Amino acid sequence: MQTLGAITLACAALVAGQNARAGEIEVLHWWTSGGEAKAAAALKLTLQKSGHRWKDFAVAGGGGDSAMTVLKSRVVSGNAPSAAQIKGPSLQEWAQEGVLANMDDVAQAEKWDELLPKVVSDIMKYKGHYVAAPVNVHRVNWLWVNPAALKKANAKAPTTWDEFFTTAEALKKAGIIPLAHGGQNWQDFTTFESVALGVGGAEFYKKALVQLDPATISGPTMTKVLETFKKVKGYTDKNAPGRDWNLATAMVIKGEAAMQLMGDWAKGEFIAAGKTPGTDFLCVPAPGTAKAYTFNVDSFAMFKLKDPANIAAQKELAKEIMAPAFQETFNLYKGSIPVRLGMKMDKFDDCAKTSAKDFVDTAKSGSLVPSIAHGMAVPSAVEGAIKDSVSQFWNDDKMSVADAQGKLAAAAKTR
Ligand code: GAL
Repeated sequence: MQTLGAITLACAALVAGQNARAGEIEVLHWWTSGGEAKAAAALKLTLQKSGHRWKDFAVAGGGGDSAMTVLKSRVVSGNAPSAAQIKGPSLQEWAQEGVLANMDDVAQAEKWDELLPKVVSDIMKYKGHYVAAPVNVHRVNWLWVNPAALKKANAKAPTTWDEFFTTAEALKKAGIIPLAHGGQNWQDFTTFESVALGVGGAEFYKKALVQLDPATISGPTMTKVLETFKKVKGYTDKNAPGRDWNLATAMVIKGEAAMQLMGDWAKGEFIAAGKTPGTDFLCVPAPGTAKAYTFNVDSFAMFKLKDPANIAAQKELAKEIMAPAFQETFNLYKGSIPVRLGMKMDKFDDCAKTSAKDFVDTAKSGSLVPSIAHGMAVPSAVEGAIKDSVSQFWNDDKMSVADAQGKLAAAAKTR
């Protein structure tokens, strides 16, 4: 009888093992720079530790435009990846196509509704059902500063746009590039939206750039924003067009440039280069935006699959992404803060602690706003159109502010 029992147990274990057959998921993302790559490697390792296989599908190109173009071609040809870095309103657009897997079972088992700020969980859902797992919260309205470069110019970190131009002028005289910039439309708009937030404030930002209110876009405040935005260009270098964002960050790391307006994935580059926040670099709110917070949440959507083992791997990835251990490891590399509420922040630096506090405070005060530059605010078609109109103005020194404002208003009507 003993033998029969042992054989039965052994068979049961074998069957269980078969059902837990390792799955493989192909993951589309664009995290290829120093800090991004370390963070992506942490995600890959987390999945591998759960027994499944990660097939990397990295499409280089900051901001993700190239990755999204490749994703569309893959899905149209019936060859969607298992998981893809998709954010904001694009999640609704993909879900509407009926190609995204429902993740409610993982979300309910892991209590995501209790663990996520509502502003985030709302973005992850389509018609009330989870279609993506959120990874982090990036703050976009940061100015990264090399204090040694400021010292050489006897200049100070600016808190307003008037102070920015005073500091930039001093740096220029000292022969230091005031602002490191990469001339790509998402980077131009990252600068533009921080100018809009700093000059016009959160209510103006929401009315003009999120609600796309025609009167606000055509109004006097937007005129001032466009004038300020174009004045910034005079403090960038002639090699800025086409430069990748992380190469601009490297200019600040090396002291070739003194400042960069960029989200805190730039911090991931400083950290990867062994730099110390508060000493080698400063994180200061973009001028005029200390009481506001432009958020950008990275997330992974899962595409519908047939193979049960691969579906299990997708669910495991979603579960691991929101687990406390991963939330800490990943965000320390990425420069962002955990999206999971209640996380201990003692391993994070002061930039992250400030970001975490300001995220909560601005959610209460109403000055927590979504980043247009990073796909968090408006449908992708109008986002692309307004980004292009702003970059056209940045690049065309013959275009007047009035022309630019008219083109922006027209672009904002794109549907
Ligand atoms: C953003 C993305 C960040 C960062 C950045 C630069 O859109 O959300 O995670 O990688 O692009 O590539």
